[in-house]
Amino acid sequence: MTTTLTRVPLLIGGEAVMTAQTDRVTQPYTGEALYDVARAGETELRRALDVASEAFDEVRRWPAHRRADSLRRASALLSERADLFARTIATEAGKPLKASRVEVARSVENLSFAADEALRLSGEGIPLDASRFGEGRVGFTRREPRGIIAAISPFNFPLNLALHKVGPALAGGNVVILKPAPQTPLTANLLAELLRDAGFPPGAISVLHGGAELGAALTSAPEVALVTFTGSPGVGESIKRGSGLKPVVLELGNNSANLVDAESDVEGAARALAAVSFAYQGQVCIHPQRLIIHEAAYDRFREVFLEASRALVCGDPLDEATDVGPMIGAAALERLGGWIGEAQALGGRLLLGGIPQGNILPPTVLEDVPEHAHLVAEEAFGPVVVLSRAANWSAAIAAANRSRYGLQTGVFTTNLQHALEAARDIEAGGVIVNDPSTFRVDQMPYGGIKDSGFGREGARASAEELTYVKTVVLR
Ligand code: SIN
Repeated sequence: MTTTLTRVPLLIGGEAVMTAQTDRVTQPYTGEALYDVARAGETELRRALDVASEAFDEVRRWPAHRRADSLRRASALLSERADLFARTIATEAGKPLKASRVEVARSVENLSFAADEALRLSGEGIPLDASRFGEGRVGFTRREPRGIIAAISPFNFPLNLALHKVGPALAGGNVVILKPAPQTPLTANLLAELLRDAGFPPGAISVLHGGAELGAALTSAPEVALVTFTGSPGVGESIKRGSGLKPVVLELGNNSANLVDAESDVEGAARALAAVSFAYQGQVCIHPQRLIIHEAAYDRFREVFLEASRALVCGDPLDEATDVGPMIGAAALERLGGWIGEAQALGGRLLLGGIPQGNILPPTVLEDVPEHAHLVAEEAFGPVVVLSRAANWSAAIAAANRSRYGLQTGVFTTNLQHALEAARDIEAGGVIVNDPSTFRVDQMPYGGIKDSGFGREGARASAEELTYVKTVVLR
């Protein structure tokens, strides 16, 4: 499959555009050259903006049922093309095939949730005569599309996290210029083709490939109405600064805490957490990174967690049996190696893994790592977990909150009072009780506080972010 896919073009208004300048993408597992990707410059960006403006004139007038029907068709087409998408994700992102298939299945649902929102988005009546100055008028609100949405998506869920932006944007009558992560360009092109095949006009979604320079030019373009970005806090901050007064939705990092109470199914929690902590090599914003365990449950938890983690299969992402594949690139592997070394130098004990095998870092577990070590304080974004003890439930919650991030936290307890305390006191956009922090279905609101960003995704939340409320008063 990969040998024939040597050139990946930009897609501008349905047209495949190759450029003189290209970027080489390599396969994370084998390190082999995968394809040369067109790099968008000023000319291509200008063309994409013009095409998007024309398409917006058309799409904004589409009735809701037409937007919904096209999104539903896209969902059905994605089911038909599921294997192609899963293999493409596994090849270019290095995501194990079984996880890639789950991503595609979620995306099928996600498109259908977006279709539902196309039908649901609406305004409301305003009782203007509640004010004596409003008598004799009729008031209502409308949900209006914003226009051209700049969507910048990450490599880790190259289909579904792009869809979290593109689906609700189209549901609301917008058009999109998608800049996918440089590592996963082909998935984005396949997505744009799929949407065109589902009936959206070619200009409704263009795909531009490139790096930081393109990102800056796209997000600062006056024609762009809103920027939605998923990625690192550093890039998020510079996008926010460069976007002027445009609304911005930022889904950034996290160092997810997962709390395990003495009053819980400790072994079940250990197995559930081991099953997801190393999934897609921990390159997931809500990957369990800091496991905070009540001291009375600590030893048993550690034993079961290590046993289950040891059983995971490392290897080729295209092998159906693989649980843990390669890191996305050498820089990520090197960074993690440095952080693991630092944690050990600061007194941390390595319990499992830690030594790369080729591009793969096997499941790695440490304990007794001080909180100021990078491996605890920053987002690891890798298959590394740090275990720590808490003397009681309030101490566990306090430890979870000692983070600059706040995206999603998992909590394992059978004590209702403790569950409610966690729901109230944990500083995060989501608290998940008796499931790991990775629990996510795509219609639920999802997003962070603190340095994890702002704005929410999830079909309805996104459709609202990507449209605006217009008030109409009739006299
Ligand atoms: C993320 O990495 O933020 C997305 C996680 C998910 O959608 O499961």
